[in-house]
Amino acid sequence: MSRSTKSRLTTQAAIADKQVVVVGANRGIGLEFVRQFLEKGNSVVATARTPSRATDLNKLAEKHSKLTVTEVDVTSMESIKAWAKKLRGDIKQVDYLINNAGVAKWADLGSLQEEDMLHLFRTNTLGPLMITQEVLREGLLKSGSVVANMTSKMGSMEDNTSGGSYAYRASKAALNAVTKSLALDLEDKGITVALMHPGWVKTDMTNHSGLIDAQTSAAGLISLLESNKPLSCHWYDYKHEEIPW
Ligand SMILES: NC(=O)c1ccc[n+]([C@@H]2O[C@H](COP(=O)([O-])OP(=O)(O)OC[C@H]3O[C@@H](n4cnc5c(N)ncnc54)[C@H](OP(=O)(O)O)[C@@H]3O)[C@@H](O)[C@H]2O)c1
Repeated sequence: MSRSTKSRLTTQAAIADKQVVVVGANRGIGLEFVRQFLEKGNSVVATARTPSRATDLNKLAEKHSKLTVTEVDVTSMESIKAWAKKLRGDIKQVDYLINNAGVAKWADLGSLQEEDMLHLFRTNTLGPLMITQEVLREGLLKSGSVVANMTSKMGSMEDNTSGGSYAYRASKAALNAVTKSLALDLEDKGITVALMHPGWVKTDMTNHSGLIDAQTSAAGLISLLESNKPLSCHWYDYKHEEIPW
């Protein structure tokens, strides 16, 4: 490989002056995404289920005029449709849609509850899919737009060597299937659909027992989106390492 080709492959295009939407942004990795996208000079629409209680997000919005806090519950079609319609009134296009909202439940065989399984499926699988469908329906995803879905390595078939965590594993594995179909269906429109694993992160979801902090995770994932990796139909973690399906 010639030196010029090599340098072209490693050149990164910084994400700046873009319109970013982060779904599930009032705490954890989502809040960190918002912080870092703002620091890079982007405009950000962040979502919370209850904006009046999104203290950290509201504090950020007081300091950053480019941050708008909006309301959506990804388990409610009524809420998603109303949110997407309002979004179309507020902005012209979405350059980066980060589907970050998610829930976990660690129940194992013997204590599984149908309603828990369905709740995780509604939030982790249907949530990102329906959000993407409505944002697309509103005409906000254009050629060059990137949709990035937050999955978990726990949804990988190959990586599952310990069993258990039925609801979480199944909901993220289903999200992976959904993401691949979206990537293939939207390819002709020039829309990239990426799948990202944040690492094991110290947030409420892990009772703050992860290996890395949300800042490190979000920084790694943003640099992944800025990299020249082929994002559609692949799956990477915050260190840009490819994960097996
Ligand atoms: N932390 C990890 O180690 C890890 C590992 C692999 C994958 N992930 C994935 O990374 C993403 C972020 O995780 P996190 O660790 O930052 O979790 P977190 O701290 O628990 O935050 C979850 C976020 O999702 C939002 N959310 C939950 N249900 C929602 C709903 N029905 N509608 C809208 N928003 C909803 C929460 O809002 P509320 O405050 O309103 O609940 C919150 O903003 C998730 O998709 C998770 O599965 C995390």
